[in-house]
Amino acid sequence: MRGAIDHNLQGIEAECGGCLSCATCHVYVDERFLPLLEPASADELELLTGVAAERRPQSRLSCQIPMTAALDGLTVHMPERQS
Ligand code: FES
Repeated sequence: MRGAIDHNLQGIEAECGGCLSCATCHVYVDERFLPLLEPASADELELLTGVAAERRPQSRLSCQIPMTAALDGLTVHMPERQS
């Protein structure tokens, strides 16, 4: 989420700035990268129930994805809307 905001990437609103209260940083993580991510927390899973676009198995809140070297090249797809 921070990388998207800092580089004016369209499609991620991140209204709460990453404090896990808005769900406007919803992304669909490319399936190749799903095994590399830490599991979503209970709070993230709860917030994912309220995303504006279709929730899919690969849905995550991008503010909850800490970037690591293992995620170099991470590909995410934008939902059709964030709010
Ligand atoms: S930026 Fe608000 S929940 Fe991710």
